[in-house]
Amino acid sequence: MEATAIILAAGEGTRMKSNHAKVSHEILGKPMICWVVDAALAAGVTRVVVVIGSHADEVRTLLEASYGTREDAHIECVEQTERLGTGHAVRVALDATGIDAGPVVVLNGDLPLIQPQTVEQFAQSVADGSCAASILTCTPPDPFGYGRLELDEHGDVVRNIEQKDCTPEQAATLLECNMGCYAFDGAQLAAHIGEVGCDNAQGEYYLPDMIEILRSAGQTVRICHLDDYREALGVNSRAQLAQITAIARDRENERHMAEGVTIIDPTSTWIAPGVTIGRDTVVWPLTFLLGDTHVGEGCVVGPNTRLTDCRVGDGSSVEETVGIQAVIEREVSVGPRAYLRPGAHILDHAHVGTHVEIKNSTIGEGSKVPHLSYIGDTQMGAGVNIGAGSITCNYDGKHKNATVIGDRTFIGSDTMMVAPVHIGSDVITGAGGTITKDVPDGALALERTEQHIVEGYTERRRARL
Ligand code: UD1
Ligand code: CA
Repeated sequence: MEATAIILAAGEGTRMKSNHAKVSHEILGKPMICWVVDAALAAGVTRVVVVIGSHADEVRTLLEASYGTREDAHIECVEQTERLGTGHAVRVALDATGIDAGPVVVLNGDLPLIQPQTVEQFAQSVADGSCAASILTCTPPDPFGYGRLELDEHGDVVRNIEQKDCTPEQAATLLECNMGCYAFDGAQLAAHIGEVGCDNAQGEYYLPDMIEILRSAGQTVRICHLDDYREALGVNSRAQLAQITAIARDRENERHMAEGVTIIDPTSTWIAPGVTIGRDTVVWPLTFLLGDTHVGEGCVVGPNTRLTDCRVGDGSSVEETVGIQAVIEREVSVGPRAYLRPGAHILDHAHVGTHVEIKNSTIGEGSKVPHLSYIGDTQMGAGVNIGAGSITCNYDGKHKNATVIGDRTFIGSDTMMVAPVHIGSDVITGAGGTITKDVPDGALALERTEQHIVEGYTERRRARL
């Protein structure tokens, strides 16, 4: 389907009381605007134009970061320098892009829950020529703030009246609401957008005025009534942001449970769209799985765990852990209370225990870092045991230096490995050592002052005091 999407995201978002664009606010770790762009892309739209204005640089940067490297998703930004209303925003987009044909879907940028099927169905209704425009409607329990649609005796839409322009009677009786999602025949849209005026309570160019304009030009305008109003809820305030986040959370959790994932407490489990989880994995409460995170089958994740852009292999357990861009392979156990930072790669059957931080390091197959350790910029072989409280001193104040540890090496408790340093295979280091020189395979490395014994000292001291 050769459809275009115009996404309106230039507004001030005043009611958010924020120093950021409304559409930059995140829902399950994903910016609001990306929810809408992704719905349009998933619906098969071939061209996406985002109208930006308020905090334009921030939104442009965010879109660049999210889609800049994707070959399948080219997002064009058009700047609306003056915010004169939704009708004006669309006119600016058409002027800048020259779009004047094919189905054009217009989506408010603050509609994060809109589904691809809805957008597709919508665009299709004008693509097949049955109408010049179609407008998404529903009857939410609280219609306050929405544009209200006047319908004729056949149920066809006559016009839209904004809440602020409604008489009290209209506000009380017109319950069919405009959800801010439209499909237009591009030729009709381009031909008539210039006729939208601003003679209304807000002095703005209202896009929904196109309904009346197209009808007087003899065109058909349909409504597409959505039964579940939640899909079309807009975000105008922080309270609505929280409400929508909870709906998105429930939707994602239901999807995973239907695929065989146990979620012990769905109200305290937050899983971003795009995250995958294998069957028979159990997710404990207070867990956040965000970004590009993929969890295998038969895992245990949580409680109290946040993984962002992480991969977890089958049969692993990750308890009370924060992970960012980390890869945990199969049958690994992590936590409680581990911190896996970018580049942490934990190989099969390894164990990373409590109060352990790993950064940019490989923990070899079956190796263990059980207690209170920091491992950074380290290549560790298989079957290694790192004693409690050991640290790779990777930073000399200027550079990050590497540590290499061979297979089956035993690092005694409280060992400082001052990088760059190469510790061979089958090495043993004595507890409390500071290792500054390379250690060959099979050696013992001891770095310790001799223990001094003073007999009868305690008694003599007590007598003195
Ligand atoms: C709009 C609709 C209303 C509908 C509601 C659904 C109009 C006039 N009213 O009202 O009928 O019920 O959405 O949520 O369209 N924007 C721009 N440039 C502008 C003005 C707005 O890009 O000059 C963008 C905003 O960033 C936002 C979207 O358009 O993403 C909607 O604007 P908003 O001010 O939130 O419109 P509503 O008052 O909610
Ligand atoms: Ca709105």
